[in-house]
Amino acid sequence: MTDELKTQSTDNKNPSRLSSIKGKFEDAFGSPPTFIASAPGRVNLIGEHTDYNDGYVFPVAIDKYINIAVRERSDRRVVVHALDVNESWDFCLDTLPSIPRQAPAWSRYLIGVASLLQAAEKKIAGIDAVITGDVPIGAGLSSSAALSVAATLAFLTAGSETEMLISEKDKTELAELCQRVEHEFAGVKCGIMDQTISLLGQENCGLFLDCRSLTYEQVPLNLTDHVIAICNTRVKRELAASEYNKRRAECEKGVEILSQWLPGITSLRDITLPDFKKHEEELPALTQKRCRYVIEENTRVVEAVSVLKARNQQTDESLIAFGNLMNASHNGLRDDYQVSCMELDLLTDIARDITGVVGSRMTGAGFGGCTVSIVHKDALAAFESHVTTGYHEKIGVEPEIYLCHVSGGAHVFWR
Ligand code: GLA
Repeated sequence: MTDELKTQSTDNKNPSRLSSIKGKFEDAFGSPPTFIASAPGRVNLIGEHTDYNDGYVFPVAIDKYINIAVRERSDRRVVVHALDVNESWDFCLDTLPSIPRQAPAWSRYLIGVASLLQAAEKKIAGIDAVITGDVPIGAGLSSSAALSVAATLAFLTAGSETEMLISEKDKTELAELCQRVEHEFAGVKCGIMDQTISLLGQENCGLFLDCRSLTYEQVPLNLTDHVIAICNTRVKRELAASEYNKRRAECEKGVEILSQWLPGITSLRDITLPDFKKHEEELPALTQKRCRYVIEENTRVVEAVSVLKARNQQTDESLIAFGNLMNASHNGLRDDYQVSCMELDLLTDIARDITGVVGSRMTGAGFGGCTVSIVHKDALAAFESHVTTGYHEKIGVEPEIYLCHVSGGAHVFWR
């Protein structure tokens, strides 16, 4: 693999978005940071709730980041200010992984990352750090994965004291480590998608990831006259963690039951739609719906990627086919997997009625958060006004709309 994550040592790579965090670090600690670790959020175009079923996903990294400005310390302490929530926390690398009850939620990710890096015998160092970012928190755009990934780069870079090369293989291993942080320190049994795209994202490409083998393909989006628009319902995803873990358990139950007739299967990924249809009646009604959705969604991802590649040869119907698959994905999440909510359904309904919108669906775990739509650039003004007024009329608040640039993955910027 060629694209290695190389830390940058030159000022000309420092985007202006990082100048304010440098100033804030200096205000807090009295001198400038040595480097800034930056990791993007993501939006998933298709392939929802398939990652923990060993299936396929197709996310992109977005131009919204969690940034951590860092200076190494000579002792083993970690002193952190989280600017956006105005909270601070410090801990010692020698007493991990104990977490005091009063530790703020965000600090668990840093403690988790540091603990697992140490357990993996990576060299890490104590740091002074400030954290700030523009990935909206709890909106389904993976702010927590971006935080874990940025923290991983922060600790590793501080420990290596020099420019660091992280190979593609190392990036997938680090993604797995960050996934474990979510499992073991935040209690969410998430899949591998969010951490992987935050590390491996490539500008203007979607990541077609096989979540079983962790092999992937960077697929050029070539959206030309279309843009990716994200709409935030601003609904807090209160049910997300508990319902998420429940869905995962329901899928596992489906596999266990179906394995009586389909020996050798270890996940829903192993079941074809025709095989499922032969045996679906054996499943309890709810399990049947959950499994049907996942099996169908896996086939949709494969098809979506193949039509998008056809679009690269300038077939315009391809994008329409891609949009139809996005719509079908949302319908499955709404009716069979039941992780949508009224606000997400409203946003997708409004979007789909606008000429020039090729597809619209909820994205991420669900129960609030965001939708993602592909919109022709000439329809953007209509999109913004219809979505804003239509949503406001029914819900009483305006959604936030972000037009998204597909960005590269996590990075370290030197002073
Ligand atoms: C969350 C999880 C991911 C994935 C999505 C749903 O974002 O972190 O692993 O399961 O939900 O597709």
